[in-house]
Amino acid sequence: MASPPQFLQFIDQNVSKFIGRLAEAVAIPSVSGDGSHRPDVFRMSAWLDGQLKSLGVTTKLVDLGKHVMDGQELPLPPAILGRIGDDPKKKTVLVYGHYDVQPANKSDGWDTEPFKLVVDEQTGRLIGRGSTDDKGPILGWLNVLEAHKTLGIELPVNMRFCFEGMEENGSEGLDDLIKTEVTKGKESWFDGVDCVCISDNYWLNSRTPCITYGLRGLVYFKLSVSGPARDLHSGVFGRMVHEPMTDLIQVMSKLVAADGTILVPGVDDMVSVADDEERKIYEKLDYSVQDVEDAVGAPITLSDDKVTVIMGRMRQPSLSLHGIEGAFYGAGAKTVIPASVSGKFSIRIVPPQTPEKIEPLVVKYVEQEFAKLNSKNKLKIENLHDGRPWLADYKHWNYEAARRATEAVYKQTPDLTREGGSIPVTLTFAESLGVNVLLLPMGRGDDGAHSTNEKLDRSNFIEGSKLLGTYLYEVAAAKA
Ligand code: BES
Ligand code: MN
Ligand code: MN
Repeated sequence: MASPPQFLQFIDQNVSKFIGRLAEAVAIPSVSGDGSHRPDVFRMSAWLDGQLKSLGVTTKLVDLGKHVMDGQELPLPPAILGRIGDDPKKKTVLVYGHYDVQPANKSDGWDTEPFKLVVDEQTGRLIGRGSTDDKGPILGWLNVLEAHKTLGIELPVNMRFCFEGMEENGSEGLDDLIKTEVTKGKESWFDGVDCVCISDNYWLNSRTPCITYGLRGLVYFKLSVSGPARDLHSGVFGRMVHEPMTDLIQVMSKLVAADGTILVPGVDDMVSVADDEERKIYEKLDYSVQDVEDAVGAPITLSDDKVTVIMGRMRQPSLSLHGIEGAFYGAGAKTVIPASVSGKFSIRIVPPQTPEKIEPLVVKYVEQEFAKLNSKNKLKIENLHDGRPWLADYKHWNYEAARRATEAVYKQTPDLTREGGSIPVTLTFAESLGVNVLLLPMGRGDDGAHSTNEKLDRSNFIEGSKLLGTYLYEVAAAKA
């Protein structure tokens, strides 16, 4: 079922209003991974709650308790549950999004202030932290609600919302909330949900819309080596003692090869090899080695073969080294022996891998490699957070609805993709609610989520809002 023309018109006629609302959202630095911004994350939840209420959504803020981050106890930002519509004749769609963002400082290399939305008139880019991940998409849903409310048109489906403020930091508390909620039966906010739509991903490139049916999971490790009671002078103690940084670098260097092979025994082996039929799926995608080079800004792909490169992201696990806490990193040439250092690395996992299968393999291997060093220092390995991978049935009517909506709005057939990133709650929705989950992106592959100068193209914000609305009409019309 096509969306009504007045709806599409309304979206086109209210572009500046919508951009103004996005600017308000971006101006709240709701960085979940930085304790000093926790009040801003709460401010963001209040702002979003206010918007939903003013658009006719009944909401409930759920307190998720507290957690400890970097040795500090902090209150978790609330999950926002919302509901609008209770017509038993209509389908019910659950929408998820996250209102927290990644950290950003102008000094990281931004051309503009990260928390001030800048509209680049030349390129049509809306630049600011969270524009594409994930405030723009959340506001897309608000735009849809506003259009229907103002025009006095009924929504074609009942809607339920679940917005969280800790996604970028491991979604703490959310799994438990969902699992508890579903035990409430008729009283549950998720009662009667027919399908889930998450708009928190991106097109592969900047030309072709896509629909996504898979995400990798993640296990994030912190590997600490400590020894001396305090930082030491390398001129005084160098070559007299075991140095933590030397030990840590040795162990970290044994995790992954330069060609991407994961060196932890058993991890790569857990995953099947793609057959010719599966390779054809990747062959057909509108994504080239050149696209990857453009997105990363350098010709550094691990292979010149398109399918190999795409499979590296979509169906292979990967191990990345992220950083070392406690290491000297400032300007100048400080001759310190750091007393204690922690290496951070993570593994993106794919079916049939799970955090429970991967963690013991990593712990055992790291301990073995450390033992080989014969160091008298102490090693500790922790799992900071994890999430399971997810794959959906893309032949489901939910995907058909999303495909028809994409074709109606963009006049293009969307690519069907698996993604390399993670949204741990996706699998929880699929399993706890027992319904189909779909990822329907608003932004493009070059938006720079998590990076400097994150942007959302104005056309993606506007056409993306039409897409989300049109999708609801296609769901309403779908034969379930
Ligand atoms: N929107 C991303 C997930 C994503 C990334 C989808 C790339 C498609 C492509 C999400 O906000 C995110 O960044 N997730 C984290 C999760 C982690 C902290 C558990 C990620 O993937 O690093
Ligand atoms: Mn996101
Ligand atoms: Mn993100």
